[in-house]
Amino acid sequence: MVSSKFFALVGVIASALPCAAYGLPSQTNIKRQDTLESWIASESAVAYTNILENIGSDGTDASGASSGIVIASPSKSDPDYFYTWTRDAGLVFKALVDQFINSGDSSLLAKIEEYISSQAYLQTVSNPSGSLSDGAGLGEPKFNADETAFTGSWGRPQRDGPALRATAMIAFGRWLIDNGYTNTATSIVWPIVRNDLYYVAQYWNQTGYDLWEEVSGSSFFTIAAQHRALVEGSSFASQVGSSCSYCDSQAPEILCFLQSFWNGNFVVSNINTNNGRTGKDANSILASIHTFDPTADCDDTTFQPCSHRALANHKAVTDSFRSVYSINSGIAEGNAVAVGRYAEDVYYNGNPWYLCTLAAAEQLYDAIYQWAQIGSITITSVDLAFWQDIYSSAAVGTYTSGSSTFSDLTSAVAAYADGYLSIVEKYTPSSGALAEQFSKTDGTPLSAYDLTWSFAAFLTAIARRNAVVPASWGEQGADDIPSVCGSSSAVGTYSTATNTAWPTTIVPPNTATTTTRTTATSTMTRVTTTTSTGCATPTAIAVTFDLTATTVYGQNIFLAGSIAALGLWDTDDAVPLSASRYTSSNPLWYVTVSLPVGTSFEYKYIREETDGSVTWETGDNRAYAVTASGCSAVATVSDAWRS
Ligand SMILES: *[C@@H]1O[C@H](CO)[C@@H](O)[C@H](O)[C@H]1NC(C)=O
Repeated sequence: MVSSKFFALVGVIASALPCAAYGLPSQTNIKRQDTLESWIASESAVAYTNILENIGSDGTDASGASSGIVIASPSKSDPDYFYTWTRDAGLVFKALVDQFINSGDSSLLAKIEEYISSQAYLQTVSNPSGSLSDGAGLGEPKFNADETAFTGSWGRPQRDGPALRATAMIAFGRWLIDNGYTNTATSIVWPIVRNDLYYVAQYWNQTGYDLWEEVSGSSFFTIAAQHRALVEGSSFASQVGSSCSYCDSQAPEILCFLQSFWNGNFVVSNINTNNGRTGKDANSILASIHTFDPTADCDDTTFQPCSHRALANHKAVTDSFRSVYSINSGIAEGNAVAVGRYAEDVYYNGNPWYLCTLAAAEQLYDAIYQWAQIGSITITSVDLAFWQDIYSSAAVGTYTSGSSTFSDLTSAVAAYADGYLSIVEKYTPSSGALAEQFSKTDGTPLSAYDLTWSFAAFLTAIARRNAVVPASWGEQGADDIPSVCGSSSAVGTYSTATNTAWPTTIVPPNTATTTTRTTATSTMTRVTTTTSTGCATPTAIAVTFDLTATTVYGQNIFLAGSIAALGLWDTDDAVPLSASRYTSSNPLWYVTVSLPVGTSFEYKYIREETDGSVTWETGDNRAYAVTASGCSAVATVSDAWRS
């Protein structure tokens, strides 16, 4: 680990040197190790595009799917995933609603409305699990893409779907309320949410199939998602002038039951079943990231991402894949590996999954965010082994932010998390397509192609890496466990949600606008956003540097600058730009770098010639200040090469 003293010293030397000094050609070729950032930038665009392509009715890969319907994958054979799963669609739309709120991506508004309308209808479609009259039909796992019931045999019911759908719709409902559209939240969103909350309150204490559709029993992921939905459902109910006494009575019981999945060392993901497995399963990591609350403590009772239990579990689950996949062989504990569903998996012979490997990264990014908010890291005997894997001198204790141990520990976790992203990068084809699985022996994509959930998992992991987090669901007020667990149930009153007439007057969040001002020595670009409410202020901004620079084949462009992220003016550590969108009419090089808010720095572009020598662009150093205002966590700088 490089000490901060070293960084400071280099910084002083660098800033004392005149610009011309950096124009000296480097004798060595520029290293190519900084490709993760540029891959993230290009993959983000691919992921977003592919998600929209998998949503009806106009998604180009979802032909035949009704409006607002998310297909799991365009694959219609081996395997046939051209259906809509309530779980997958709920998770995908939660990611899209958060993107809509945080980035002001106005094109998503119509999609979100169509999704919610489609779910109002699907709730009424009688199916092999039952109908809406007693709520049982809400537990049906999947429907045909044209919104008719799927009547083949299947692992049903699956009781996480209504909870995840409620969470996605509540996120949008709260945005509506925060922005003055309470009537719309009350008259359109709440009646649909209410049916799903009733379902959870009535059926949580009955067995069902797990998220992998294989085990009939009680699934940790399902129970955790149900607890969260009832907690935020209760506050959403009061925001729309209603109440949810059944949420309030059942949520503590569900939290009580959730504790029984913890065996002292890790989460046993399926109980009330006897399937002969260890119980170590990415089920539990997915539960932690989908119940992440950015305002929570490192709470063991809800298995928050930074909790001792969830970190110990992260180690137990990820370690369980080290010996079963040959692409992981020789990778020591504390180094990222490809992660699958569970070690005993035999589906397609049992392979790593993109979304599970991404979840392993996302939990760690969530945890980094939480420690920063809390202002300290506490290590106990429960999670000590997790820490020692990535930081050998880790010891039980509390380390406050500002201490060198705190920064060493968070740096170690950040590097470990990036390792999981690098695994995904390594096994993603150059097209950026994310299938369901990749081969445990050679990493080639397997099973369903373009899995919508894989792309959504990528987007949420990258958002958390950029410290862009979803709204709190109220974990802090809902972490008390009753002294005795009950097994009650609240019988629901279900009704068709009839109103899906969205007003045309809804205005999306304001999008970032870029303004440029010129000073005597530098051109400074600032991003200004209009303040809006209902979102977390980002602590880091994903800054995209767009550079127009005409180059010849074999030349490469890099970004060098005065901060560590840009290599401290060292050409060997400069950040490579991507030419993947370069055309002769638009010679664009670009890279996206995540930078903490408040960072100010100078930078210049450099060109690596075909012989490996380096040419600096002319003129003064450029300058940039990373600022946040409003919700937007993205910014773009547009520059032109100065020759
Ligand atoms: C119902 O809840 C009780 C109390 O937490 C628990 O012991 C039991 O396993 C639960 N059963 C199911 C099927 O959820």
